[in-house]
Order: sequence, then C-alpha cells, then structure tokens
Amino acid sequence: MPATVSIHGQWSTRLAFILAATGSAVGLGNIWRFPYIVGDNGGGAFVLVYLACILLIGLPIMMAEILLGRRGRQSPINTMLTVAREEGLSRGWGLMGWIGVLAGFLILSFYSVIAGWALAYVFKSGSGGFVGLDAEGSSELFGAMLASPEALLAWHTIFMVMTAMVVARGVRSGLERAVTILMPLLVLLLVVLVGYSMAQGEFMAGVQFLFQPDFSALSANAVLLAMGQAFFTLSLGMGAIMVYGSYLSSEASVAKTSGAVVAADTLVALLAGLAIFPILFAAGLSPGQGPGLIFVTLPLAFAEMPMGLYFGTVFFVLLVFAAWTSAISLIEPAVAFLVENLSLTRVFATTLVAMFAWLLGIGALLSLNVWSGYTLFEMGILDLLDYLTANILLPLGGFLIALFVGWRMTERSVQSELRLKLGFVYSLWYFLVRYVAPIAILVVFLRAVGVV
Ligand code: PFF
Repeated sequence: MPATVSIHGQWSTRLAFILAATGSAVGLGNIWRFPYIVGDNGGGAFVLVYLACILLIGLPIMMAEILLGRRGRQSPINTMLTVAREEGLSRGWGLMGWIGVLAGFLILSFYSVIAGWALAYVFKSGSGGFVGLDAEGSSELFGAMLASPEALLAWHTIFMVMTAMVVARGVRSGLERAVTILMPLLVLLLVVLVGYSMAQGEFMAGVQFLFQPDFSALSANAVLLAMGQAFFTLSLGMGAIMVYGSYLSSEASVAKTSGAVVAADTLVALLAGLAIFPILFAAGLSPGQGPGLIFVTLPLAFAEMPMGLYFGTVFFVLLVFAAWTSAISLIEPAVAFLVENLSLTRVFATTLVAMFAWLLGIGALLSLNVWSGYTLFEMGILDLLDYLTANILLPLGGFLIALFVGWRMTERSVQSELRLKLGFVYSLWYFLVRYVAPIAILVVFLRAVGVV
C-alpha cells in the first residue's frame, strides 16, 4: 500500500492546495510570457489554439499528474517508480521524473533572471522612473537594464535567494503562506489595469487582436509554441503539480481542484492580455516586441494614470510574488528527491539546487549582453533554455504521463485514485488522456519538425 501522507508534509486544507497549485501555475508565464508570445505569433488564432490546448491537453494532464502524485506521495521520480512497481511496470518510468527534475532546474535558471527584471522594475517604478515616460523612453529604459550584467546578476541573485529561503522552510510554513493573500491581490490589480486600458487604450483593437483569429498567420511552429505555453503556464509535464498533489489529502476531488486551478490561470493570462494590448496599440507600438513586451508597455500606462507611481510599484511587487510562488514549485521536485534519496536536509538540498540553477542563470543573463553574439539555432542561452523546456521537455513529460495513466496503469487503480463518479466527466477525461492528449502532442511535435 502506498503511504497516505508524504514525508514532506501535507496541505492543511483543500483550499491550501488549490492556492498553492494556482500559485505555481500563475506566474511570469501568464503575465510576461503569454502576452509576448501571443504578440509574436499574430494574436487571435494563436490564442484559440492555446485555449484548445489548455482544455484538451492541459486540464486532463493536470488531473493525471495530481492523481499520480497523490498515489505515490513522493518526489516525481520516486512517485513514478513506486506507482510503476505497484502496477507491475518497468522501472524505466522513473525517467519521466528525471525529465521533470531536469526541466524544473533549467526553467528555474532563466525564470529567476526574468523575475529579476520584475524586481528591478519595482524599484524603477517606486523611485519615479516611469514619470513622463514615452514609448521610446520606455524601450531605452528596458534596453539599459538588459545591457548591464551587474544589475541583472544582482536581481537574479536576490530572487534566487528569496526562492531558496521559502523552499528551505518546507511545505506548510513556507509554501502555503506565500500564496494565500497575494494571488487575489494580483487579480484585483490586473482588473484595475484592464479598466485603465478600457478608458485610455485602444481597447477594441486589443480585443480584436486577442480574439479575432486569422489562421493564415499560424505556422506549425506557432502551434508548438501555443502547446508549449499551455504546459508552461499550467506548470505541467515536469512533476511540479505532481509533487504538490503528493501533499494533497486523500479525500479532495482531483477534478474540481484541477478545474479551479486551470480557470484561475487562464483568467489571469487573458486579463494580462486585455490589459497590455490596448495600451500597446494606443502607444503605437508593435505587438512583436519579444520578451520585453510587458516591461516596455506597462510603464507607459503607469506613467500616465493617476497614482501611477503606486499602481506601478504594487503591480511589479505582485508580479514578483507570482513569480516567487512559481519558482518555489520549480525547485520542489528536485529538493524532494534529494531529501528522499540522499537523505540530505531540506535546507542543504535547496541550497544545492538553487546554487546550480543560479550558475546556469548567469549564463542566461550574459546571453542578453556580453555573450549576445553566441547563438545556437539562432537563440542565445536564455532563449534556448526557454524553448527547450517549454516546447520540448514539458510536452514530452506530459506525453509520458498521458501514456502512463491512460495506457499502462490499470483502469481500476486510476478510478480508485481519482474518485470520480463513473459518469460523463470521467469518460470524457479518460478519453482525453488516452487518445486526444498523446495524439495531439505527437502530431504537433511531428508537424513542427516537418515530418507530417
Ligand atoms: N507556471 C509558471 C508560470 O506560468 O509562470 C511557470 C512554471 C512553474 C512552469 C512550475 C513549470 C513549473 F513546473
């Protein structure tokens, strides 16, 4: 029999799990990555594919991850090994856990660099740096930050230390507390920003850009990016949600909790898009700004709106918190594994993982300035890490999870862990996990490399 409680602790309530999983899901992926990828890929059609991926692939895989985590009650590697053993399957499934630990580590390294940008912007806003800013000035401000390796390093370091500190304190005292108040506040502030966009921006142009699909603009690679974004934003395919699931009590409904997390995450991404594009169009900027999009666009709004100094500062503070609660979950699978297998203390394991991710992050931040000449597949280190993880490793992890739960576990174990009434919802979910998700991932992969 698997343990009913993880050695790392357990969430105090189901709501705590929802908040923590939402904390993991909602982060830079929603507010920084979603708008800029949508901007780079032409808007509406991309958003539609993204939403389809969220519903048809993301939601069912999230349920599969949570049910696996809760059944194994350990780090993703050991969870996969344990469940595989129970089901009489190969130890090779532990590989899924390893892919996850690797992906989390790689994501954390550049995630911390971008979160560092947000940290820097807290102080730029707070010190009145956005006052009187126009579009050109805003681009210059952002460019100047990227050009300074010292500044980027300082912010990256601070963020990594912040993350390690929370993770070192453990599941309850650390992870739970960080999310309970800040998530709702972030949503509130986004709503205020959307209100500003409605009043002052080219709101309808923004809405059209986001929701009017033009499929002729959609390449096979864009479909891969949309799917990658769905995985990235929901924290799927690398065991983050699985490890959080392992701290979930046995009674909680996997379907309802997943639905709540997915809904919250999608809401935040769409709100961010609705806030940003109208401001962007009003300023005459092009949507294809790349990773600097929100850092160039939002200061323009804060420069003009009443009390913009305060709103701007609070916004970037909340963005840092959103990134923080996500970064925590990036590191957690690796830390849980080190604690279990090498008997390291939580503090030591966290320090170790954070230190290596920090080192790799230095490579990522140097690729923005000193090393900008070095590229592979036309990408610098930061872009490469982002592309490799979001578009390849996470969907690959998701594919393996879908195969495992859909095809290798017995349906009886799946049902007993899911505890869903055997009706329409269950049948639909099982169909999505067995057929739709793995086939869709495979087809998108093959199309992106030009095989089909
Ligand atoms: N979901 C996070 C975001 O949208 O910012 C990023 C992330 C966290 C990805 C945890 C993957 C993960 F396991």
